Amino acid sequence: MINAAVFASGEGTNAENLFKFFVNDSRIKIKLVVTNKDNAGVIARAEKYKKNVQIISKESLENYTTQFIEFLKVEKIDLIILAGFLLKIPHQFVKEFPNKIINIHPALLPKYGGKGMYGHKVHAAVLENKEKESGITIHLVNEEYDKGEIILQQKCEILQEDTIESLSQKIQKLEYEHFPKAIERFL
Ligand code: GAR
Repeated sequence: MINAAVFASGEGTNAENLFKFFVNDSRIKIKLVVTNKDNAGVIARAEKYKKNVQIISKESLENYTTQFIEFLKVEKIDLIILAGFLLKIPHQFVKEFPNKIINIHPALLPKYGGKGMYGHKVHAAVLENKEKESGITIHLVNEEYDKGEIILQQKCEILQEDTIESLSQKIQKLEYEHFPKAIERFL
C-alpha cells in the first residue's frame, strides 16, 4: 500500500475529490493532510473523511524541514500530493522524495507558472494576455518552481466572454476529472 499525504493551503476541493476517489483503493491510502493555514477549508473536508491533519507554518516548514521530513517518514508517507499548496517545497523534500511529489497547476506550464502564480491570479494573467486556451498541468516537483517533469496536460478553450470565475470553473472541471486518474496511472 502506498501512503500519501495531501498538502493543501485553501478550500481543498481537489483534496476532497481525491479523498473520495481513493476512498477504497487497494493501492493508495491518503493517510495525512498537511496545511499551512489553521483556517483552511481543507481541514473540515479532511475531518469529514477522517484524515489526520497536520498544520505547519511557513516558518516551521523552512526552519524545521529535517524534523518535518522525519515526521513524514515515521508516518510512512511514500507520496506527496500538492493540491493547491502555496508554499515552496524545500529542496530537502525533493531529495528525500525523488519523483514522489506531484503538483497540480491551473494553467498550461511552462506558461503562467512560478512564484506568486496560483489560483485566480493565474486565470487573471491568462485572460489579461487574451489567450485562446488554458488548462491544467500535473507534474512532478523538482528544485525549480513549476518546472518538474510534466505527467499530464489538459486544455480548455477560452471564449471572449470568459471571466476569471467562468475560466476558474472550466479549470476546476478538468482538475476534478483528471487529477485522480493521473495519480492512479502514475502509481
Ligand atoms: C487549484 O486550482 C490548483 O490547481 C491551484 O490551487 C487551486 C486549489 O483549489 N494550485 C496552484 O495554483 C498552485 N500554483 P482547491 O483548494 O479548491 O483544491
